[in-house]
Amino acid sequence: MASNQTAVSGTDPKVYDEYKTKWSEQPADEATWVQRAKDVASVLAKDASIRDKENKSPRAEVALLKHSGLLKILGLKKYGGGEQPWSAGYKVIREVAKGDGSLGMLLGYHLLWSTTANVVGTPEQADRFQDLIISNNYFVGGAVNPRDSDLKITSDGDNLVFEGFKFFNTGGVVSDLTVLEGVYNDTEDHIFAIVKTDQPGIQFSHDWNNIGLRLTESGSVKIDKVKAPWRDALGWNVSKQKPDPEILGIPFATLLLPTIQLVFSNFYIGIAWGALNEASDYTNKSTRAWPFGGDVKEKPQDEFYILSTYGNFFAHLRAATALADVAGIEISSLYKNSGDAASRAKVTAQARGEAAEWVASVKVTATDTGLRVTSGVFEVTGSKSTASKVGLDRFWRDIRTHSLHDPVAYKNKELGRYQLLKEIPEPTWYT
Ligand SMILES: *[C@@H]1O[C@H](CO)[C@@H](O)[C@H](O)[C@H]1NC(C)=O
Ligand SMILES: *[C@@H]1O[C@H](CO)[C@@H](O)[C@H](O)[C@H]1NC(C)=O
Ligand SMILES: *[C@@H]1O[C@H](CO)[C@@H](O)[C@H](O)[C@H]1NC(C)=O
Repeated sequence: MASNQTAVSGTDPKVYDEYKTKWSEQPADEATWVQRAKDVASVLAKDASIRDKENKSPRAEVALLKHSGLLKILGLKKYGGGEQPWSAGYKVIREVAKGDGSLGMLLGYHLLWSTTANVVGTPEQADRFQDLIISNNYFVGGAVNPRDSDLKITSDGDNLVFEGFKFFNTGGVVSDLTVLEGVYNDTEDHIFAIVKTDQPGIQFSHDWNNIGLRLTESGSVKIDKVKAPWRDALGWNVSKQKPDPEILGIPFATLLLPTIQLVFSNFYIGIAWGALNEASDYTNKSTRAWPFGGDVKEKPQDEFYILSTYGNFFAHLRAATALADVAGIEISSLYKNSGDAASRAKVTAQARGEAAEWVASVKVTATDTGLRVTSGVFEVTGSKSTASKVGLDRFWRDIRTHSLHDPVAYKNKELGRYQLLKEIPEPTWYT
């Protein structure tokens, strides 16, 4: 554990020790990976509401993800990974989020960061970082928030030196490695690098105390002269000290953005299912039929408005889920054979743009439906379900918090241009 982190209270990894052996066998196909994610979700769901209130660093929960093997689902088999496509990765994110939205989010960001070198690195870097991350079952965080000023990067000869401040990072406090990104001295060229989290130059403020996703450690971080060797400058030609256009100048190198946007939607959809399932359970056990409507029913399960509301939420969540699965396949198809430079070069801007609009469609649908379901379930659980100890509010707080990451209005607008003008979006930090 990093010395700059011990002062802050975290959950105790020992509480999940039994799962080290219980889950020692790695799932072999998509169905068994999804089942593993369901098992993780049911462990997390038991006390998710209590852990949400306590707002500790999720050390135990990240240990649980490590025991489950889920951190390695996308990793290369030769290093112990599952070598599943993103379409399966999205499903496990969604399943984990059903039990605990924060952990679905942490898993999702990790999967993106752990494959970053595959997208923006040279083949040698991609292989080297797969080995480092997957062989060690590392959890990867990132300090990349593009709304803050870029980190500044200078060179001390052998190393890049990163310096700056990020208002948001995700999972950094509980990570083994951190993805840094900044702008190289007096240029407009960006560099990604992956460094060890446990070092004096990475200083977390431990200031994550927001209304939702309270176990994600998404607070601020100061980067104080953190070094990375030049050979770790992802996608750069070190002898030239320039980005390699064959790696970073192609549409493939911009795939991190639609890939993470679809991560977001999948944990929103998972969280909304979590709300629907927990509410159903509550309605079954504790909601009473309304006695003043004339047509008085004995049980809540006979109330027309309760049945029709659940039915409507169910239909919209199924639609969002089905759409997310289609978009997952679109994204996965762009990554096909991505270990090989020729296949990467074949991904066109048009194909990338069309996949991004599948992803935008899911984002709009998942946000609208997710907010409606997580706030609407109270109408079919009743006034007693607002008790803090029930904890039914955490689902709405989680989706409300993350759905402000970037305004969904711009996704609607982007889709409008796609439909009306047949325009694909420019790749940006948010598209
Ligand atoms: C930064 O760039 C300037 C101008 O190109 C150069 O003079 C300076 O030596 C560079 N500094 C470092 C630390 O690389
Ligand atoms: C890097 O640039 C040098 C100098 O232009 C070139 O000879 C070399 O092939 C490049 N390296 C790679 C990996 O492209
Ligand atoms: C609700 O109760 C019914 C009948 O007792 C049961 O079959 C069903 O599984 C319960 N649903 C939930 C979500 O708990």
